[in-house]
Amino acid sequence: MVFFEAMYRTQTCNELRSGDIGKTVTLSGWVKTRRDHGGLIFVDLRDRYGLTQIVTDPEHNKEAHAILNDVRPEYVIKVNGKVRARPEGGANKNLATGDIEVICNEVEVLNEAKTPPFEIDRDDATNEELRLKYRYLDLRKDRMKRNLEVRHKTIKFIRDFLDEENYLEIETPILIKGTPEGSREYIVPSRLYAGKFYVLPQSPQQLKQLCMVAGLDKYFQIARCFRDEDQRGDRQPEFTQLDIEMSFVEEDDVINLNEALMIKLCEEIVPHKKILKKPFPRMTWKDAMNTYGSDKPDVRFGMEFVDGGEIFAHSGFKVFADALSKGGCVKMLKVVGGGKFPRSKIDQLTDLAKIYGAKGLAYMSMENGEIKSPLLKFLGKEEVDAVKNKTEMANGDIVFFAADEFVTAATSLGHVRLACAAELKLIDPNVFAFLWVTDFPMFEWSKEDNCLTAAHHPFCSVKAEDVPLLQKDPLKVRAKAYDFVLNGNEVGGGSIRIHKQDLQSKIFDILNISREDVNHRFGHMLEAFSYGAPPHGGIAWGLDRLVMIFCDEPNIREVIAFPKDSRARDLMLDAPSELPKKQIEEANVRVKAS
Ligand code: AMO
Ligand code: AMP
Repeated sequence: MVFFEAMYRTQTCNELRSGDIGKTVTLSGWVKTRRDHGGLIFVDLRDRYGLTQIVTDPEHNKEAHAILNDVRPEYVIKVNGKVRARPEGGANKNLATGDIEVICNEVEVLNEAKTPPFEIDRDDATNEELRLKYRYLDLRKDRMKRNLEVRHKTIKFIRDFLDEENYLEIETPILIKGTPEGSREYIVPSRLYAGKFYVLPQSPQQLKQLCMVAGLDKYFQIARCFRDEDQRGDRQPEFTQLDIEMSFVEEDDVINLNEALMIKLCEEIVPHKKILKKPFPRMTWKDAMNTYGSDKPDVRFGMEFVDGGEIFAHSGFKVFADALSKGGCVKMLKVVGGGKFPRSKIDQLTDLAKIYGAKGLAYMSMENGEIKSPLLKFLGKEEVDAVKNKTEMANGDIVFFAADEFVTAATSLGHVRLACAAELKLIDPNVFAFLWVTDFPMFEWSKEDNCLTAAHHPFCSVKAEDVPLLQKDPLKVRAKAYDFVLNGNEVGGGSIRIHKQDLQSKIFDILNISREDVNHRFGHMLEAFSYGAPPHGGIAWGLDRLVMIFCDEPNIREVIAFPKDSRARDLMLDAPSELPKKQIEEANVRVKAS
C-alpha cells in the first residue's frame, strides 16, 4: 500500500515507464538540471527515487513554459502533465524512466532555492567540510541515498533474523555510570546532584549482562555508543553497534549464531560479493599475529610471514641475533614482484614500519639469480641460502625482515604487508574474507600507565586451562574473547563473560583496582552476580563499519546520515558550542577561563 497525497504527486520520479504513455500525472521534486533547447525547455526532476524528464514548449502551454524558464537547480516544483514517448533516438537507456517524458500542462514552484554551495549530482571531491556543513544537500546525492538504503536494509534484516530466533530487542539507558572499555567517556553533569555526573555508554556492556541476570536470555539492541577518542576513518565519537548477549552459551554458540546471520545478511544485501570461505576460518590471536602481523588480518591475499628464528639465532647481524637472544623474533615477508620497488618505495615502507615501533626494515631482493641487500656484509652464505630456501624466493622478489620483540616485529611487518598488497594491487574488492580471531590475551601491559590493563574489558572470562596462570603469569592468560574480522577490518568483538563473583573479584585484583574502587564502580555488577547469574556471553558488531564495507566506502562518515567531522564536530549544527551562562550554572559546572 502506498499512501500518496495525489495533490502533490501521483507517482515518484522513478515510476513512469512506456506503459504509462498517455496518462496524466502529477510529480513533485527538485530541479536537477534545466536545459533550454531553443524553444523547448527540458527539466530533469529529481526525488529520492530517481529522475523524470519534464518538457515544455511555448506552443503547448505558455504559462508553464514561462515558469520553467525561470526555475533554477534545486527549486522544488510540482508538475502536472501527460506522459509521452521520447522522440525517435531520444531514449536514455541508462535511466529507468528513459523511454518517456512528461509534457507539462501546469507547473507550480513550491519553493525556491539558493544556489547550492556545491553541485549536488557531481560526485567529485567536494570539500569535506562543505559536505558536512550542508549535509542535507549532500544527502541528496544518489550515492548517499544508496548508502542510507543499504544501512536501513541491513538493520531491518538483522532485526527480522533475530526476532525469528526469539531475541528480544531491549533498549538500555543512555545516561549511565561509566563502563570500562578503554576509551574516554563523554560526561553529563547532573543538575539535581551538584558535583555528580552521568556518563554516556561506550557500549551497553554492563546492562546487557544485567539483562542476562534478569533471565532475558536472548537480548539484542541496535545500540548507540559514545567514545571520546581520537577520530579515524573507521571511528566516530558516536556510532552504532548491533549488540547481542545470550545465556547458557559457550564461544561456539555465539560464533555460530553470528556466522549464520552474517552469511544470510551478505546473501541478501551484497549478493555480488564472493565470500572467500564458509564456514569462516578461525584463527587464534597468536597465529594471526605470527602469520599476518595483525589481530585483524586481511586474508584476501597470501603473503604469510616466515619465521627467521632458526636462521638468525647466531647471526653475524647483531640486530637479528640480539632480538632473538632477548626473547624476541625475526619475521620475514616475501613480496613477489617487490624486487622492482625503487629505493624511495623501500624508504616509505621503512618509515611505515617505524610508525609501528620498528627500528628499521631490512630487505633482500633477487634479480637474475643474484641477491642484493644492505645486509650482505653482515650475513654468512648459509644464512642467505636459508632465507632463499625458507621463503622460496625467486627472481623479482623481495624479502623484508623485522627483528624485535614479538608484537612490535609482527605489527610493523603486518603494516608493510598491507602496503605492499595495495601497491601491487593484490586485493580483490569483490571478495569478502571473513574470519574469527580467538584466544585474545586477557591482559596487556600499558607502557603509558606502567600497569596491567584488560585487553578487551574486565568482564571477559578466561580459558579454563589458563586460570592457574592468573597469579603467576597474567600476560600469558588467554580470554574467551573473539573478534569478527572482514577484509582486515574488525567488524565485531565479544566474549564469554565471567558470571561468578569470585573470579570477577580476582580479575579486578590483578588489574590492581582497589576494593573501594571496585565497589564504587562495579559494586552493582558484583552484587548482581551474587543473585544467580547464568553463564553468558555475547558480541557487538560495528554496524557503521560493516555497512561502510558493504557500500565500498572508504570512511564510515559516508554511511552515517549526520556524522561528526575528523575533529569530533558537527559542522552542520555547530556542536559542540557554548551555552548560556545560566544553563551552565544550573548544571553546577564552572568553565575554566581559557
Ligand atoms: P568493542 O569495543 O570491540 O566491544 O566494540 C565492538 C565493535 O564496535 C565497533 N567500534 C566502532 N565503530 C565506530 N566507531 C568507533 N569509535 C568504534 N569503536 C568500536 C568495532 C568493534 O568491533 N561491549 C563490547 C562487545 C562485547 O564484548 O559484547 C564492545 O563494545 O567494529
Ligand atoms: P643498520 O646497520 O642500522 O644501517 O641497519 C641495516 C639494515 O637493517 C637497514 O636496512 C635497517 O633498516 C635494518 N634494520 C635495523 N634495525 C632493524 C630491525 N630491528 N629489524 C629489521 N631491520 C632492521
